[in-house]
Amino acid sequence: MTTTGQITGKTKVLAVLGNPVAHSLSPQMHNAWIADHGLDAVYVALPLARTDAEETLRAVQRLGLHGANVTVPFKEAAARATLVRSLEVTVLGVANTLRRDERGVVHAHNTDAEGARRALDEAHDWTRDVREVLIVGAGGAARAIAHGLAGDGRRIAIANRTRDKAETLATSLGGDALAIGWTDLPRAFSGADLVVNASSLGMAGQETIAWPVQALRPGSIVFDAVYAPLETDLLKAARARGLRTVDGLGMLIHQGALAFELWFGVKPDTAKARERLLKILPERGS
Ligand code: ATR
Repeated sequence: MTTTGQITGKTKVLAVLGNPVAHSLSPQMHNAWIADHGLDAVYVALPLARTDAEETLRAVQRLGLHGANVTVPFKEAAARATLVRSLEVTVLGVANTLRRDERGVVHAHNTDAEGARRALDEAHDWTRDVREVLIVGAGGAARAIAHGLAGDGRRIAIANRTRDKAETLATSLGGDALAIGWTDLPRAFSGADLVVNASSLGMAGQETIAWPVQALRPGSIVFDAVYAPLETDLLKAARARGLRTVDGLGMLIHQGALAFELWFGVKPDTAKARERLLKILPERGS
């Protein structure tokens, strides 16, 4: 926190905006990077009222925060409430990062899509082996991940409990993306080279399911965007089968690093962040 450890009138304030936010690892991650770079800034968590989300987001933008991350359930409201949207935000309709420029204008960005790609790139040499991608979930995270992984001839299938949302996401992806029925999950697993859990299944305090991991082909990759707990049931089962896995910490760190670069113009150390967060996670009991 801040160069001198002292907060003054000049200290830049940044925040994660969401509800709930008490569990967020973003304050620890960003404050450690702020200290690494000797910046006069501080990053806090603000639990916003869930009512009138768009108006709340507009009010927060008037407060003069230097930057913010936006999390559940405000990512869509943040995209709608901000006048200047990056191309990704326009395409995805969701923003996870806000940045105030020198003139005070707030820009909305989405670093989740590129963050997911970098997490995969860092973990495995995947692009050659992966043609069929199965994404579980169709919320904001799924949308960003699906767009981040689309392209290069990969076929994206979306399975979601609520079928309509899977259809909408598949349509927005274009090409030969398709929606899969929730009961067809085992068959979808058997045809996938890469499975991504972008739903809240398996998150601490949320429901989980009996993942049909036995249906996966040898050599396939399993990526769980959930990071609390870090070792989810899905990853545990995939590892027990000797499959390649990617945990949710990579995406958290890379989307955060991209945001940090937008706010401060410097690339933070992602490996250091992983080391630091791995120490925090067990302490939190997640
Ligand atoms: P985020 O922005 O993190 O993606 P979200 O938009 O609330 O959060 O999306 C949560 C995702 O998890 C959705 O795809 C949701 O499925 P529905 O569209 O059917 O709600 C999925 N999800 C949450 N709880 C689930 C459960 N018990 N079983 C299956 N899917 C679940």
